[in-house]
Amino acid sequence: MARDVRFTATAPIKFDPNLKPGDVPPAPNVFPWPRDEQGNLKTLSICACGISAKFPICDGAHKVCREAEEPGHVHVWDVATRKVVRKTVDEKKA
Ligand code: FES
Repeated sequence: MARDVRFTATAPIKFDPNLKPGDVPPAPNVFPWPRDEQGNLKTLSICACGISAKFPICDGAHKVCREAEEPGHVHVWDVATRKVVRKTVDEKKA
């Protein structure tokens, strides 16, 4: 299983543990680190499949990849619909 993912960002995404919910971030690519109800820092799951609607945060979309992708192929996803829109033979695996 493989997928093509298009990235357009030219800067990193940063999670700042010093920012609190409601704080104004210093830049559009800076976000507060997630916290639990008591205000403790939570484990942050970073999306490694590339199709999360909340990228770079994992939103569980990787489960759809496991079900929909076929070994030996490269898949292009429409993130909005969570559908594979193109599938080709993975030449690197052939
Ligand atoms: S790893 Fe991509 S949504 Fe979870």
